Amino acid sequence: MHIAIIMDGNGRWATQRGAPRTFGHRAGIQTVRRIVEAAPGLGVSTLSLFAFSADNWRRPPEEVSALMGLLGAYIGSETERLITKGVRVSFIGRRDRLPAKLLSQIARLEAATAGGAALQVRIALDYSSRAAILQAALALVPERATLDGFARTISAPADHAPDVDLLIRTGGEKRLSDFLLWESAYAELWFTDTMWPDFEPQDLADAINDFSQRDRRFGGLARVA
Ligand code: IPE
Ligand code: IPE
Ligand code: MG
Repeated sequence: MHIAIIMDGNGRWATQRGAPRTFGHRAGIQTVRRIVEAAPGLGVSTLSLFAFSADNWRRPPEEVSALMGLLGAYIGSETERLITKGVRVSFIGRRDRLPAKLLSQIARLEAATAGGAALQVRIALDYSSRAAILQAALALVPERATLDGFARTISAPADHAPDVDLLIRTGGEKRLSDFLLWESAYAELWFTDTMWPDFEPQDLADAINDFSQRDRRFGGLARVA
């Protein structure tokens, strides 16, 4: 099961507490830790996490650099644990605009966890789904110009993941904000008002439970009971 999460609401969570937005991002990283730990036990095989969108560069530079720093710190403190747990981590999105230090941390984490088989975690950084679709379209050779060929072209072989089964967005907004548009063609959608720092493994379990009761028809007819 491939679950994609738009981890939204860190800033508002902090503001509600009279704290700077960065405080919310710090708390959000703890949520990432908890959710990654809980995912394999809930039947998740691939987890795609939206951490920073290509449009998030519009934010104040202080917030952007705080976010990059927190991601680097997460990588530094989690690598050993991720290896132990068999989690393979890869990053999707543009790399050429990321700070050099973060870039080398990313490359090291990807290499160090490449053998993980318990869970595939894809972290979307400087990511735009429309840009990814355009890039794949430009790279597509005619003999692969099929839906399957396109699906394979849109992600690098190392990041390749099946279509999204369940897309979760925290923080109350009901939109996709340019995340995995192609891959979510038949994804079930689950929105919650819970802000990302407050999102618990139990919320993930609730979402999965709701998902498991849905009838995914893929254009066909309802299952006969
Ligand atoms: C976290 O939530 C997602 C990121 C872009 C890092 P936000 O920072 O968007 O928080 P809100 O939506 O302003 O509350
Ligand atoms: C989407 O959240 C991007 C991430 C969660 C990383 P945003 O907070 O940037 O999205 P909008 O601006 O509300 O659509
Ligand atoms: Mg937001």
